[in-house]
Amino acid sequence: MILVTGGAGFIGANFILDWLGNPSAEGIVNLDKLTYAGNLATLDSLKNDSRHIFVHGDIGDKELIAKLLKEHQPRAIINFAAESHVDRSIHGPAEFMQTNIVGTFNLLECACKYWNSLEGDIKETFRFHHVSTDEVYGSLSASDPAFTEANSYEPNSPYSASKAASDHLVRAWFHTYHFPVVTTNCSNNYGPYHFPEKLIPLVILNALSSKPLPIYGDGQQIRDWLYVGDHCSAIREVLAKGKLGETYNIGGWNEKTNLDVVKTICRILDELKPRADGKSYKEQITFVKDRPGHDRRYAIDAGKVERELGWRPAETFDTGIRKTVQWYLDNPVWIEGVVSGSYRDWLQKQYN
Ligand code: NAD
Ligand code: DAU
Repeated sequence: MILVTGGAGFIGANFILDWLGNPSAEGIVNLDKLTYAGNLATLDSLKNDSRHIFVHGDIGDKELIAKLLKEHQPRAIINFAAESHVDRSIHGPAEFMQTNIVGTFNLLECACKYWNSLEGDIKETFRFHHVSTDEVYGSLSASDPAFTEANSYEPNSPYSASKAASDHLVRAWFHTYHFPVVTTNCSNNYGPYHFPEKLIPLVILNALSSKPLPIYGDGQQIRDWLYVGDHCSAIREVLAKGKLGETYNIGGWNEKTNLDVVKTICRILDELKPRADGKSYKEQITFVKDRPGHDRRYAIDAGKVERELGWRPAETFDTGIRKTVQWYLDNPVWIEGVVSGSYRDWLQKQYN
């Protein structure tokens, strides 16, 4: 067994689907609070798979975590659970502090206590994998080299500050308690099941429903895009072979301006699902007010994970973005559930 937190969210759910796609893979206990970002419809295909055990709960709930650890004796924990949206963190930072900092602290405390109670092989091989972001490193200028693991932490948003704090806690638990941890700091992900508050799914869905495609500021901010399946394979590699106490940067070697990303999506949609009036989706591009404190550029140097663990992304941006647009065209039911909010009806029924 492994314990995954936040496994009903975008990356966590992709990770679980990939992991259990291997018929001989170990089972997963999936602990998720089902915030607005958690969507069990994503995991529908696992309904009859006894290797997936879903538990509705909070990483901040120590009693629940202790009980789960005792019951399932996982050999590893992968912590995806977080509030993840920068814009939301600007409007309401409190939840970010609670889940990303206090929640991670609670999880670490329980996990460390559990690990101390173990003996033999399972204690030797146990690990806690913390999933983090490149945003902890702050913002780069156009000529700066990409972030390496040696860059200092300079988070600029409430979201990135809360993730930076959680990374520091994980680091401290290794140094102080010798708790076996690894941390990965990843760049912007995209792919199937991405919640349409983030740039790429938002633009695809707005384009298809004839809405404006909002570009913050001048659209010249740069992100380093990684296809979510590649992030999942990197996590598997680091979990299996990463050195304890180390951090690994994960990225796609795909730096793009936001405007380029949006234009690329428009071009693909023009080809795959042309507008009824024959015009390009680019007509819908609209420049809007910038995000406060908007980081200008992120770029990941993913050389360490390649040199030490042999991992490299399989997708280029061109192949990954085409697959992604096609996925959104092919999955109207999932999209309808998210857009109408109906995926939350089950939650009401089940938990109210
Ligand atoms: P997401 O917002 O799509 O999903 C987060 C999941 O965590 C949701 O299912 C939510 O219900 C759950 N959750 C939130 N608070 C919880 C709590 N207190 N207890 C249990 N579950 C809780 O996020 P994502 O994009 O899948 O990101 C997953 C992780 O990867 C996060 O830690 C994020 O910081 C990190 N990350 C994301 C990206 C990206 O581009 N999306 C890039 C690098 C790192
Ligand atoms: O870098 C990794 C991070 O990537 C993760 O840690 C975060 O969890 C994840 O949300 C993502 O953060 P960003 O803020 O980079 O992602 P977002 O999709 O919100 O925005 C991408 C870029 O697009 C950013 O420069 C802001 C811009 N943007 C975003 C939206 C939603 C727009 O121009 N218009 C928009 O409507």
